[in-house]
Amino acid sequence: MTGAAAGESPPPPANKDWQPNDMNTIPFNEPDGRLRPLQSADAPSIAAAADDPAIARWLRNGFPSPYTLADAESFIADFAEREEGERHLGIEVDGRVVGVIGVVPGTPGDVHERTAEVGYWLGASHWGRGIATAAVTAMTRSLFAETELVRLQAAVYEGNRASCRVLEKAGFTKEATLRSYVFKRGEILDAHLYAAVRDGVRPG
Ligand SMILES: CC(C)(COP(=O)(O)OP(=O)(O)OC[C@H]1O[C@@H](n2cnc3c(N)ncnc32)[C@H](O)[C@@H]1OP(=O)(O)O)[C@@H](O)C(=O)NCCC(=O)NCCS
Repeated sequence: MTGAAAGESPPPPANKDWQPNDMNTIPFNEPDGRLRPLQSADAPSIAAAADDPAIARWLRNGFPSPYTLADAESFIADFAEREEGERHLGIEVDGRVVGVIGVVPGTPGDVHERTAEVGYWLGASHWGRGIATAAVTAMTRSLFAETELVRLQAAVYEGNRASCRVLEKAGFTKEATLRSYVFKRGEILDAHLYAAVRDGVRPG
């Protein structure tokens, strides 16, 4: 019997008031690795890690390049606690935020309210240690455990093999190639659509 059927409070709606468990942090395997809400004190380390065209090329144009301290400060102030389920958590390793992972659900009340887009980036000095894979895996498990979201997806731009690998290792499945989906830096690119659905998530 479900909690609601047993007379307990119904689960929270998918797109509202979601907070990760464990005191707003999500631990992952990297020594001292965790996902946690961003604080204004994180701005310098975020700006230092994010100011890199090798990161910006794979993200939407709203990601600044160059990426200044002021950009980091306004990101933290404006986006860290958005309404309607959108969340951006810092990827903290060894006590410093070296990247960000975010989740943006569909519009509440509309057909995609239980689907969310996942995005992430990591400073280049931390690439190749499995950190992004651990972060995506931890975020996926937490979202499926803590919310009513049933589908997480990401559209990876053509050529971004590292991100495709991250999603594959985190248990996402490639569902399609979206042809001519992206116009980035003067180029039309395909994108690879990856998704994880609630029943398909790897067991903890
Ligand atoms: C994508 C990104 C988050 C990966 O972070 P990371 O912590 O280095 O990723 P991981 O170490 O967990 O895994 C990377 C995997 O990609 C592989 N990889 C890296 N570069 C590669 C390349 N050029 N070709 C093929 N595979 C590559 C690694 O070998 C590893 O796979 P393996 O474990 O099977 O060997 C990081 O490169 C990044 O921030 N890139 C810029 C922003 C971005 O692309 N964001 C995602 C947008 S969809």
